[in-house]
Amino acid sequence: MRARYQELLQVALRAKRKAHVPYSHFHVGAALLASNGHIYSGCNIEISSYGLTICAERTAIFKAISEGEKRFRALAVVSDDPGFTPPCGACRQVLLDLAGNIDFIMVNGKGRTKTLKLVELLPHAFGNANLQRTKKKRK
Ligand code: THU
Repeated sequence: MRARYQELLQVALRAKRKAHVPYSHFHVGAALLASNGHIYSGCNIEISSYGLTICAERTAIFKAISEGEKRFRALAVVSDDPGFTPPCGACRQVLLDLAGNIDFIMVNGKGRTKTLKLVELLPHAFGNANLQRTKKKRK
């Protein structure tokens, strides 16, 4: 695995320690690699009104976008699940919209990795192209 991806896994592991998970106790850490080489970390943050909870992946991408990042290469995610932790549906849509077809790297309890392209995780996605087509019709 590429050296930068190894680094990404280490950052995600460190971010997992910051998870605020008083309800699920399911700790998740994420690390997002921007095209310019910067890495943004994220953890999940749970709220007593559960639906307001944010996943580690979205914390990372929102941090990056808010810092002015526009182009991305890969995101790594880790949890204590002995299997691989795939992103939830909401994160798939947010990541595809904001980061594009990046590598999504999952790590299992044995330290094995599985990397999928985001379009493999969200095939037939809704996106800006759909919105643009209806705009043209209205003209
Ligand atoms: N969670 C993430 O942060 N990322 C994922 O990929 C899956 C789920 C969080 C949300 C919630 O805090 C907890 O895991 C249990 O769903």
